[in-house]
Amino acid sequence: MPPPFATLTVDDLVYLRRICGNDDVICDIDELKIYGSDETEDLNYPPEVIVKPRTTEQVAAVMKYCCERNLPVTPRGGGTGLSGGALPVFGGVCLSVEKLNKIIEIDRDNLMVVVQPGVVTQTLQEAVEEVGLFYPPDPASRGSCFIGGNLAENSGGPRALKYGVTKDYVLGMTAVLPDGEIITTGGKLLKNVTGYNLTQLLVGSEGTLAIITEIILKLIPNPQYRKTLLVPFGDLEQAAVALTKIFFARIVPCAAEFMERAAIKAAEDKFEKSYPHADAAAQLLLEVDGNDERLLEDQCEKIAEVCTECGALDVLIAENKARQDEIWALRRGVGEAVKSICPYKEEDTVVPRAQLPKLVRLIGEISKRYQLTTISYGHAGDGNIHVNILKKDLTDDEWENKLPSAITELFQQVVELGGTISGEHGIGWVQKRYLPLALKPEELRLMRKIKDVFDPRGILNPGKLLPDE
Ligand code: LAC
Ligand code: ZN
Repeated sequence: MPPPFATLTVDDLVYLRRICGNDDVICDIDELKIYGSDETEDLNYPPEVIVKPRTTEQVAAVMKYCCERNLPVTPRGGGTGLSGGALPVFGGVCLSVEKLNKIIEIDRDNLMVVVQPGVVTQTLQEAVEEVGLFYPPDPASRGSCFIGGNLAENSGGPRALKYGVTKDYVLGMTAVLPDGEIITTGGKLLKNVTGYNLTQLLVGSEGTLAIITEIILKLIPNPQYRKTLLVPFGDLEQAAVALTKIFFARIVPCAAEFMERAAIKAAEDKFEKSYPHADAAAQLLLEVDGNDERLLEDQCEKIAEVCTECGALDVLIAENKARQDEIWALRRGVGEAVKSICPYKEEDTVVPRAQLPKLVRLIGEISKRYQLTTISYGHAGDGNIHVNILKKDLTDDEWENKLPSAITELFQQVVELGGTISGEHGIGWVQKRYLPLALKPEELRLMRKIKDVFDPRGILNPGKLLPDE
């Protein structure tokens, strides 16, 4: 457990206001409550104060002060996380990057963008697309998540299949260490082997090592065309097998999403929209993109052939952009839809892609054996399936008793398949107890030492990622 922290005093408030200004240091009880939650289950841990710095120097001054005062600091992006990374579980200071929200430079000559962490990911994407460039990583929450949070969690999303995840685009950053020191890592460089790769150590570190205040991202030219296919299957495993075969046809889709019937039904109910073939056991949502429209049409035909051979019930191609947007809105809304059904727990399983059919079978077996209602969907192309376990009509006791054993068993078997316990949502607060299932004691020890080097007083995002000792 982290050392006991100081409690916020009036003097602390005065000092923090001196750094950030009165309006950007907030103690309003309603706002504290809002900043006490992210999208993780229905958890709420209000901070004692919210600070909203506008510069790297202000972040540094806040951290220096909090470090000296032994006040815990929880960094916060858009608050869309699903592992509780932004929950101020020890109270203290919530450091929101929402006012560090500028796109500093779109560098067309170098195909790069320099951005502050509080920019909404979709806003960033639209800004670079206006000049013909493309920032591919697209977490489902891209309309409200922040790019800084995407770095902290190394977020993925549907397009990771062809284009990679957040880490594949981060070339450098400015970050503030827990004691207030400012570091810059990497640069506008496509190659860089100069010392340890601090950039990539900070990506995915879930706000436990440093606070990122400026980011250099790689961009690519924006592909001109995209084609979207919906492929219903009568059997979950068939869908998984079909997916693995598409690559043999020499096609790398830019997205290959998997939704089982219950996931589609949840989204249909929530958004009062209907999906074609909603009764099918599972659907693949496939997309190809590129600059040669004819070639994309050929690829769609080939995909249709492969899927039909694997037992697809139909192959539907979205006829226009409006239809594509509709299909994607429904897919992106599945998480929110599932959340609105009842209390639930989300597991972010990931296996090597070829093990996907086994993973799908495994999820079915475990939910049956433990008599749990599950809804699975996710990024089949990446072997990354979100398994949502619903409380439904279980009593609190049944829920508390069954859940940890079911999750442990799921994760153990996922690890046996060569997989791990989070593909893109992180470990944060709610998954840390399971981390020893995925990492060996010596690996955990090394991680604890890394945390200690960056944050010897343990004030930055305490209680996250590493399991309690
Ligand atoms: C999604 C989020 C939950 O894929 O990762 O919808
Ligand atoms: Zn996802």
